[in-house]
Amino acid sequence: MLTDKNILLIIGGGIAAYKSLELIRLLGKSGAKVVPVMSNAAAQFVTPLSVSALAGTPVRDELFNLDAEAEMGHIRLSRDADIVVVAPATADLIAKLANGLANDLASAVLLAGNKPVMLAPAMNVAMWENPATQRNLTTLRDDHRLIIGPNEGDMACGEFGFGRMAEPEEILAAITTALGGGVLRGKRVLVTSGPTHEPIDPVRYIANRSSGLQGAEIARAFMALGAEVVFVTGPADAARPVGAKLIEVQTALEMEAAVNAAGEFDVAVFAAAVADWRVASASNGKIKKTKGKALPELELVENPDILRSVSQRGSGRPGLVIGFAAETDDVLENASKKRLRKGCDWILANDVGGPRPVMGGLDNQITLISEDGTEEWPWMSKRQVAEALAKRVSEAL
Ligand code: C5P
Repeated sequence: MLTDKNILLIIGGGIAAYKSLELIRLLGKSGAKVVPVMSNAAAQFVTPLSVSALAGTPVRDELFNLDAEAEMGHIRLSRDADIVVVAPATADLIAKLANGLANDLASAVLLAGNKPVMLAPAMNVAMWENPATQRNLTTLRDDHRLIIGPNEGDMACGEFGFGRMAEPEEILAAITTALGGGVLRGKRVLVTSGPTHEPIDPVRYIANRSSGLQGAEIARAFMALGAEVVFVTGPADAARPVGAKLIEVQTALEMEAAVNAAGEFDVAVFAAAVADWRVASASNGKIKKTKGKALPELELVENPDILRSVSQRGSGRPGLVIGFAAETDDVLENASKKRLRKGCDWILANDVGGPRPVMGGLDNQITLISEDGTEEWPWMSKRQVAEALAKRVSEAL
């Protein structure tokens, strides 16, 4: 249910605008208040009268309307909303938002907003596949805009392909999830992510190639299903997931302390590439290179295995503990042994020695290993891996 939620619905100018009428009806039935904004072209497809009548509130359609600006300016319009939904999101509106244009009410509200934005793209398949549109979508995803659809199928223009707007029911479900009503609502999830840096001296450290992207995407995917996420990350390049409780650490020892202090969890995902060893006693001063002197020797000691200790906790063990196994040889055999050795429930095995870069790359190929056996997933983006994992977890809990 969306009781008392304010939805600012921006209707773009495309044939799919007729479906936004059904969306308004479903939102109203679910308890939400809908404030409709129509782009200039939208009125060519559905009448403002139908939209206003269904929403029970007048359509806003002009940027420079003195009455509306005096009563409720475009800034407040966006502030009062719990979420801004663009359906249909045309190629034009997508391009405007990706590039920060604001020359009409719809684009100005989008630029001025400080709330989550969800886009339901709808357009001809060639427009969808056009590199310019795909570039704009990449920008919007990087800006953490939520994108639902489009679906594949017959199009109003007689062609077939991707470009059909997501169905109103799908958009309603995505809005419900985005506003915290998702299937993992009330669940606490721990995600560790990124590399660790193990100091050698004040300027040097031991590290690895982990970018932290897979962990960040996992945190986002769990939040999208309504979970409360604690995100413990080493010094990673990837953008931090907005909305998670963020704990930044440098070393494996700090990560262990942060995990132990973070409380109890329903699910724990250990995506961090924790350094296996640290320098036994890091130097307080910079180690000097002195001609003729012997080369410095680094004595290594083993780091604590956080996944193992959490998996083997007597009380307070998370209901589902998930680890990663980045392997280069005998991937499945090593990963299966690792699951038993560490005592975790699931291992996501990935081959990091193949020709396609996983560590630091955008895509991943996972084999899920559990008590029930192995399940090979195809190559997909790290975001898709994260979504598939969150969905699997929601089914397993
Ligand atoms: O033993 P290995 O490092 O290959 O194990 C990989 C899994 O164990 C990953 O899920 C990683 O996050 C976790 N791990 C950990 N603490 C360590 C080493 C690995 O939590 N010190």
